[in-house]
Amino acid sequence: MSGAAQRLVIAIDGPAASGKSSTAQWVAERLGIRHVDSGALYRALTAAALAAAPDETDWTDAGVLAHAPRVTLAPVGRSFAPLIDGQPAGDRIRSAEVTRVVSLVARMPGVRAWVNDRVRGAARDHDVVVDGRDMGTAVFPEAPLKVFLVADPWERARRRLVQRLERAPTDNEVAEETDRLVQRDAKDATQTVPARDAVVVDTTYITQEEQVERIVALARAVTHREDATSGG
Ligand code: CDP
Repeated sequence: MSGAAQRLVIAIDGPAASGKSSTAQWVAERLGIRHVDSGALYRALTAAALAAAPDETDWTDAGVLAHAPRVTLAPVGRSFAPLIDGQPAGDRIRSAEVTRVVSLVARMPGVRAWVNDRVRGAARDHDVVVDGRDMGTAVFPEAPLKVFLVADPWERARRRLVQRLERAPTDNEVAEETDRLVQRDAKDATQTVPARDAVVVDTTYITQEEQVERIVALARAVTHREDATSGG
């Protein structure tokens, strides 16, 4: 969609390591629109706060939010990548330490309002695929397509480890990662609920290509948009 017309928003939500971000990025490329990863903003703010005050036990919403001006979004290809103090945040937002603390930060109402504001800002200027936990519920309840990705926790853990280690993980490694994912799911449970009109896609037994195809087909059905890569 273009001009002054309402911008297109496709919301992809789901639990930890359900493949939201890579899927959202791929779908955005196929549709020729932008991708916004709301989780990356929670992670970047957490990384900025951790660098300034490594003990999170006495963090407050206002104290964490004081770091928000240090976090910005820069366009990279079809996505936006967070910058911290003007520098690409890179892999440090995916560190074990950030992952351990991010759910605490994501429970802070001021932080949630800040992230939601950033994401809505991006969607004002561009047609977007947004991914997170509550994009289809709290942030874009009017989005014409809402997808909720689910997968078996063991499979989610295995996929996350393959991505991180670039080799096949051992059963022990998968078991430990599954524990961490399930614990994070529990901490994020309040905001990780499918919208009533969300299409739930279980990706346990399908490939990423298949899940992208399915979502692109759903998106075309709601927008009649041509595939940007099909020669158009
Ligand atoms: O992909 P993964 O589950 O590792 O996480 P993410 O999308 O990078 O999100 C990291 C954390 O941010 C989650 O564990 C949630 O605590 C929080 N989050 C949230 O509360 N709401 C969102 N819309 C996105 C992320």
